[in-house]
Amino acid sequence: MSKERVNFGSKLGMVLATAGSAVGLGNVWRFPYMTGQNGGAVFIMGYIGCVVLLGLPCMMSEFIIGRHGAANTGRAYGKMGTHSLWRLVGCMSVLTGFLITGYYAVVSGWCLQYIFSSAFGELNGNPTYITEYFKDFSSAPLQPVIWTVAILAMTHFVIIHGVRSGIERASKIMMPLLFILLLVVVVGSCMLPGAGRGIEFLFRPDFSKLDSNMFLAAMGQSFYSLSIGMGCICTFASYFSRQANLMKSAVNIVLIDSLIAILAGLMIFPAAFSVGVNPDSGPSLIFITLPNVFREAFASMPILGTIIATGFYILLSLAALTSLISLHEVSTAFFYEELHTTRKKAATIVTVSCCIMGAFCSLSIGGRDWLMIGGKSLFDVFDFVTGQIFLPIVGFLTCLFLGWVVPRKTVKDEFTNWGTLRSTLFGVYMVLIRYVCPVCIVAIFLNQLGVI
Ligand code: PFF
Repeated sequence: MSKERVNFGSKLGMVLATAGSAVGLGNVWRFPYMTGQNGGAVFIMGYIGCVVLLGLPCMMSEFIIGRHGAANTGRAYGKMGTHSLWRLVGCMSVLTGFLITGYYAVVSGWCLQYIFSSAFGELNGNPTYITEYFKDFSSAPLQPVIWTVAILAMTHFVIIHGVRSGIERASKIMMPLLFILLLVVVVGSCMLPGAGRGIEFLFRPDFSKLDSNMFLAAMGQSFYSLSIGMGCICTFASYFSRQANLMKSAVNIVLIDSLIAILAGLMIFPAAFSVGVNPDSGPSLIFITLPNVFREAFASMPILGTIIATGFYILLSLAALTSLISLHEVSTAFFYEELHTTRKKAATIVTVSCCIMGAFCSLSIGGRDWLMIGGKSLFDVFDFVTGQIFLPIVGFLTCLFLGWVVPRKTVKDEFTNWGTLRSTLFGVYMVLIRYVCPVCIVAIFLNQLGVI
């Protein structure tokens, strides 16, 4: 069965949809706490360096493979490769995206629950209460599973409407909304008394904090934040038109992603510093530290506090949803084309299996013995295997593939739209993808495994 392949309908839609994949929990939650843990402004400077030297070339590589193949990620690697084994790398990328969908949906579901928790004042209590509230909720058997299924159902709804009327249309609505909400919360946070210290932490570098761990953390964050190595960028690029300027699109997406991450910092640090909380608390930041911060910071204006907190969880859910849509699309496109079925059936296979995976991941958080592997919860195992093993392997092999295996002319043709665009940066791109990126990815990999 041969299928007509669709493209994004407009440049704006194409950039917003891909930026939607990049902008996610990683920007609003992971970036601020990593900035907090790694010395503020110096980390941001290192991060920007990593985004330009690593993130951008890796994103370009996925664009090149995806658009060249005009097919799901597994097949796209195969079409570009000289050996069918390269198809396996594409399939591994799809598998990574598939597994991440399961556990990313769990945290995304928590964000939905917290919209209601904050709107109905359930988070008004002392710090111990807020900590217990989160622990009880996240380890409960039913409620978080229902939210996981709910957010996957929303994702499914968008996906079955297709690339243009589903993904593109949803991104055009959700991304501007997310941006406006973010600005509202940033203004609210920056107007608090003592907010200046947070802004200073974010923008005044303290070079004594500069070390190799900070750089490794910044590199890892740049990959995660740009959704690299998980098939999303490659799948979306397969819907790009032949006229799309890949370099310009990649730069726009990277700028949007970084701007939103920095705005998220401007939302969190001023509020946290204004109540004397140091926002380096790690993963519990958005569900434990921030509710406390909002409650204390707006103690004299509780209604404004409720509005700001609710707005925050809505924007978090939007960010999560746009990323989830792109993750879901990776596997949907794969099943759709490989199983020769309808898009609706392919999406249903993905949604149902991700609901099952998500339910097990969610249940494992309560420490249920039968969902522990080697002392770790299934949730942590998924996170570890995908983020720290599969992702670097796929990223590394992708660099080798484009840098050393695919004929230079094929890569250059895609890079320059068959010679119609300037090729000034092509040489720089090749050096980065051949030498700099693979070495850095190996360093991140070994660092995450504790070897260096
Ligand atoms: N880039 C997303 C974020 O910053 O939250 C996370 C993500 C989405 C990672 C999709 C990977 C992916 F394929």
